[in-house]
Amino acid sequence: MYLERRMNLLSPMAVVLAVVLAGASSLRAETGAQGWLRYAPIVGDAASRRDAIPDAIISLGNSEVLNSAKGELVRGIGSMLGKRLRAEKSVSAENAFVLGTLEDVRGHFREVESSRPLGPDGFWLRSVRHGGKKYLLIIGGNDRGVLYGTFAFLSRIAQDRRVDDLDDVGTPSAPIRWASQWDNLDGSIERGYAGRSIFFDKGAVRGDLTRVGEYARLLSWVGINACVINNVNADPRILSLNFLPQLARIADAFRPWGVKLALSVDLSSPAAVGGLKTFDPLDSGVAEWWKDKVDEIYQRIPDFAGFVVKADSEGRSGPSQYGRTAADAANVIARALKPHGGILMYRAFVYNHHLDWRDMKADRAKAAYDYFHPLDGKFDENVVLQIKYGPIDFQVREPASPLFGAMQHTNEAIELQVTQEYTGQQRHLCFLPTMWKQILDFDMHVNGASPVKEIVEGKTWRRPLGGFNAVVNVGLDENWLGHPLAMANLYSYGRLAWNPDQSTEQISAEWTRLTFGNNPRVVSTISTMLLPSWRIYESYTGPLGVGTLTDILGSHYEPNPDSAEHNGWGQWIRADAQGVGMDRTIATGTGYIGQYSPNVQKKYETLTACPDELLLFMHHVPYIYVLHSGKTVIQHIYDSHYEGAAKAAGLVGQWESLRGKIDDQRYEEVLSKLTYQAGQAIVWRDTVVNWFFKKSGIPDAKGRIAQNHNPLTGSVPYLDGNRNSRPH
Ligand code: GCU
Repeated sequence: MYLERRMNLLSPMAVVLAVVLAGASSLRAETGAQGWLRYAPIVGDAASRRDAIPDAIISLGNSEVLNSAKGELVRGIGSMLGKRLRAEKSVSAENAFVLGTLEDVRGHFREVESSRPLGPDGFWLRSVRHGGKKYLLIIGGNDRGVLYGTFAFLSRIAQDRRVDDLDDVGTPSAPIRWASQWDNLDGSIERGYAGRSIFFDKGAVRGDLTRVGEYARLLSWVGINACVINNVNADPRILSLNFLPQLARIADAFRPWGVKLALSVDLSSPAAVGGLKTFDPLDSGVAEWWKDKVDEIYQRIPDFAGFVVKADSEGRSGPSQYGRTAADAANVIARALKPHGGILMYRAFVYNHHLDWRDMKADRAKAAYDYFHPLDGKFDENVVLQIKYGPIDFQVREPASPLFGAMQHTNEAIELQVTQEYTGQQRHLCFLPTMWKQILDFDMHVNGASPVKEIVEGKTWRRPLGGFNAVVNVGLDENWLGHPLAMANLYSYGRLAWNPDQSTEQISAEWTRLTFGNNPRVVSTISTMLLPSWRIYESYTGPLGVGTLTDILGSHYEPNPDSAEHNGWGQWIRADAQGVGMDRTIATGTGYIGQYSPNVQKKYETLTACPDELLLFMHHVPYIYVLHSGKTVIQHIYDSHYEGAAKAAGLVGQWESLRGKIDDQRYEEVLSKLTYQAGQAIVWRDTVVNWFFKKSGIPDAKGRIAQNHNPLTGSVPYLDGNRNSRPH
């Protein structure tokens, strides 16, 4: 920022000098506040790139979004290449960028074929020669597409990729590409690990919304087009009359970046804030209330995206209180949204958290399918069923939810978590796209080849709507998510929602280049750390699909396998003296596997077919059962924990090899987190191996357990001076 402002005041020669100097001092401290949007000066062959860049910029329109696109191009090119673009009002005979929608650009450039399909939010980067001049056209299917195209172009420059002779089309996989925040009106954030809310404080919307605009800009860069700003456990006051003008301020801060506002709402709102005696979805007064409320919202926020509803779940109110269904509840609100083009996302996270743990047939994993499958076809066209990736709850490893394959006549979206609730809470490095890809690529075999990604894109059953929503939970911490490397998860989420076919290798390298620069050693080292990090975390926290062995009743962070058992929450692991794992087979277990299509059932039902990584999710086996890997289950548990902790320690060394190659501030911050993680991995390792040793009575074949029975007496490093507490 400082450099950019300074450069705007300088002569071209001085600008060149400034860029060279900036290159030399590019290791100055960075806070991470800019995320992947740093526009760091390109060093090296910058001059030749500058020559390929036109001198002028013309925008064929004047909307807020187009103005953002124009502003970003000027800012980005100025900062990265030291070139000041001149804004022109109309297309004239000179080399220029031209920004506009397909229709507008064709008005000036007949050579741009209208045949190229360019849907909403899509973009096309096209170099043309016209009357002896070179034009770089940034064309959008709509204004938002122009902004996305601009960011795509700037991303190329930032990654030092070529920008001449472009003919690149970008098409989003699905219309719904949302981010969710679980922010409470008092400013706290449920499952947020990076400071307080950027939206709310003390029961009201914050006065200063600078960070909100910056967040929207980051989201927009990766193609996110809406953001739900409040907790799914929604406070009904969000819909009270005095809140609406405050919400409109947030929508205003989002709008220049093409990000629409969305809200979580509580189903009891008509009674809780509307003064009605009921919230029965089939009551005509209730329908009227929703209609009036939604009309009110659209009057203030004409581009409002819609609502998310969590109902009949974990103590929330719901349609069951009136003997109604989720379809009744969803449709009454969806009908109010329909005339305005709004969407109703209904969460499939509906289950009984007072299950009887003594009942061997009871199974929380079955709940969503059992409840929603009979309702297929009963939801309105602007309702989308929002389904968590697995049937339990954001665990470190779960199979894809069987519900994805069971709702042929219903729009679906997948719910992911960027905030690392069960995956290390941004104190551990855990690059989640590797896990997300496994789910997205998983073939449900419901309509020929039908990977989850194609179902949620709406392709499999030709649904009009579908897509992605991830819980992000950025906070006021300067670097947004707490751990500088956790931003790779947010970046990758957006990139995968845009195009789930991209590889994690490609995305992690992209993010690293944008975040830490193009030094090949930096790019390869950080990618080599990110890519295996989910498996490393899994290996010391949740072996063989058993679930994250954390304190499920409290923080969801520390190791505490006991907390999974003997309660109504249904995250049981069924460990006893002989064996471990949930029997979910059709033959002898809960029957969960029967919720999949026959081809998938075959993968999981038998011990011989079931992959080791999900064995304990699907089967109860003796500790001495021999895995496909040739090891017994118990020895795998021991080995994976020792290996995982060793690999976590290895990350520290990998990072240390980058000393001096990235700025000190971010280097030190990451180093302290990784050092802490290495210590915490030892705590996890020793807690879990001791726990299984005590349960099974089977010693570790390599004789390691006794040496580590009390990890806290060893030299375990602590984060911020806090002791790693062991479970009781
Ligand atoms: C998890 C999480 C809760 C959250 C819930 C949900 O259980 O721990 O904080 O409310 O998911 O997704 O609704």
